[in-house]
Amino acid sequence: MNPKEMAAERGASLVGSGMVLGLGSGTTATLVVQAIGRRLREGSLRNVVGVPSSSAITAVARESGVPLTTLDEHPVLDLDLDGADEVDPNLDLIKGLGGALLWEKIVAVASKRVVILVDESKLVDRLGTKAPLPVEVIPFGWRTHIPFVESLGGKPELRTNADGRPFVTDEGNYVLHCHFDGIPDPTGLQAQLRSRAGVVETGLFLGIAHQVIIGRAGGVEVRTRPA
Ligand code: A5P
Repeated sequence: MNPKEMAAERGASLVGSGMVLGLGSGTTATLVVQAIGRRLREGSLRNVVGVPSSSAITAVARESGVPLTTLDEHPVLDLDLDGADEVDPNLDLIKGLGGALLWEKIVAVASKRVVILVDESKLVDRLGTKAPLPVEVIPFGWRTHIPFVESLGGKPELRTNADGRPFVTDEGNYVLHCHFDGIPDPTGLQAQLRSRAGVVETGLFLGIAHQVIIGRAGGVEVRTRPA
């Protein structure tokens, strides 16, 4: 098992029968959902339902035999399992390079416990050093955000598909990948971006993760946010 698989397996092992889950998105979350499906088929887990955070993970859950539900039926979730693009020493995160940050954040904040599964390549001393910050914006007037993000010290570029057209999220929005040479004040940046008309949400997940499970070559490390 590689470190990402080790973290995903440990995440799946936290699921108990009867739980209502948040299902994250991305390659690590895919491994988690597949592992949950395996446990359901083997019979070591029963009566689990999940709220998917993207159309992509919806498809994975269906293929894996993980029953799905909605936030309308279950507005409070027991456990959200998801990946991340960066994790800092406070367990604050950048997420969304898979393009699903808005639904992922809604699912995460609806969850009593949020556990993030990563390999150690995702650990950073400061957010914004390795990954760009994805910012979801409504299509109307999206170009107006470019000088605004530049005024905040970022270099934004529109996320596009292979054919050069804008990438469109499950919610019908665009994503700006904003490159920062490290984000010194994530809380301040989040407030500035969110107060801008047309910005829907950012990939800064601050104070949201309760636990981060890190897969390493030598084993799995669990870090827990102080209460
Ligand atoms: C999806 O939008 C993201 O937030 C993912 O959780 C993140 O990009 C991590 O993805 P991987 O597990 O594929 O690295």
